[in-house]
Amino acid sequence: MRMIEIPVELGDRAYPVRIAAGLLDEAGRHLAPFVRNGRVVIVSDAQVWAAQGARLVAGLDPLAIVQVIVQVGEGAKSWTVLADLVDRLLSLQLERGEPILAFGGGVVGDLAGFAAAIVKRGCPWVQVPTSLLAQVDSSVGGKTGINTAGGKNMVGAFHHPSLVLIDPDCLATLDARQMRAGYAEIVKYALVEDAAFFEWLETNGDALLARDPPALRRGLATSVAGKARIVAQDERETNGRRALLNLGHTFAHALEAEAGYSTRLLHGEAVAVGLVLACRLSERLGHCSRPEVARVRDHLRAVGLPVGLDQIGSPAPDRLLGRMRGDKKAVGGRLPFILMRGLGAAFVAADVDPALVTEVLRSSE
Ligand SMILES: NC(=O)c1ccc[n+]([C@@H]2O[C@H](COP(=O)([O-])OP(=O)(O)OC[C@H]3O[C@@H](n4cnc5c(N)ncnc54)[C@H](O)[C@@H]3O)[C@@H](O)[C@H]2O)c1
Ligand SMILES: [Zn+2]
Repeated sequence: MRMIEIPVELGDRAYPVRIAAGLLDEAGRHLAPFVRNGRVVIVSDAQVWAAQGARLVAGLDPLAIVQVIVQVGEGAKSWTVLADLVDRLLSLQLERGEPILAFGGGVVGDLAGFAAAIVKRGCPWVQVPTSLLAQVDSSVGGKTGINTAGGKNMVGAFHHPSLVLIDPDCLATLDARQMRAGYAEIVKYALVEDAAFFEWLETNGDALLARDPPALRRGLATSVAGKARIVAQDERETNGRRALLNLGHTFAHALEAEAGYSTRLLHGEAVAVGLVLACRLSERLGHCSRPEVARVRDHLRAVGLPVGLDQIGSPAPDRLLGRMRGDKKAVGGRLPFILMRGLGAAFVAADVDPALVTEVLRSSE
């Protein structure tokens, strides 16, 4: 199938995102301009490597492969795993300009990207995202980092990859729950700025989740193009544009923290609940209509995502509010939220009354 190439226009840090089924099988050709020493250093996690590693290795033939495999799951975004990874990369004596290839979901991307940002004060890296979430969201935009005792993604760097290769065929081995979690970010993007895309998702979401090639291709391309455009307008989240991509995330981060960042609640699942809460808060403030809230909730529910607090263990509203106050995006104790003026029109509300937030949380119990 024809390759889609989406540029992320960032001046001297610009890079292309390429999307095509089968890209993995020709990875060597795409990596050729970056390869040094006839080898490729790959960072992956054990599950991704078992599921898709052989395809990548075949696609890189005859290049030599050095793989560094990290543990599966969010726990890999830690100081200890980072330290081991950095030591290992240094021991490989990367040549100047030799890239690191991050092959995995958002965890591997965030971890390997951060390692690339700090090894020898920064070396290039290439992302080959393998989860739906990583393909539509985390692989584009250059945010990298790890979690610390202080919270999730509290330590990190902006470090853009040189190239992103998205092969939808990778998703064949991703389980259905992880597919749905990634899908929540696609819905998020539609609600931020693309009402027509949301309408398309209402009709085609099931096909996308069933990995129907044309639906997947369109969903990936629209989400990536949207994120690339927004990142180009606001690379470092300073003018309010990129912040819109945090729609639903103030709620989601609090929910994930309450769940202890465990697989009990995946990030995308928290985002789904967060999107409904953001819609309801928008409605409460007069920016969204009741039928619009219902449309979002019904669609997320129809594809099998959680939409209410009762579905995720009923975390206490007061505790959630406390978490939101502690979120790194809270400014001077007031609560900034991303809200919607109707579907596909997100905006930043700088100062939302916490009492209204509690009210919305209570009525979602
Ligand atoms: N940098 C950013 O801009 C950004 C944006 C959103 C999320 N994130 C981060 O991304 C992370 C979540 O990413 P994720 O949901 O991809 O999690 P993940 O990387 O843990 O992947 C989810 C699970 O799927 C497995 N997996 C991935 N691809 C597979 C495949 N093709 N076949 C079989 N199994 C596969 C992984 O091994 C893992 O068990 C979080 O840490 C989050 O903070 C970063
Ligand atoms: Zn997210």
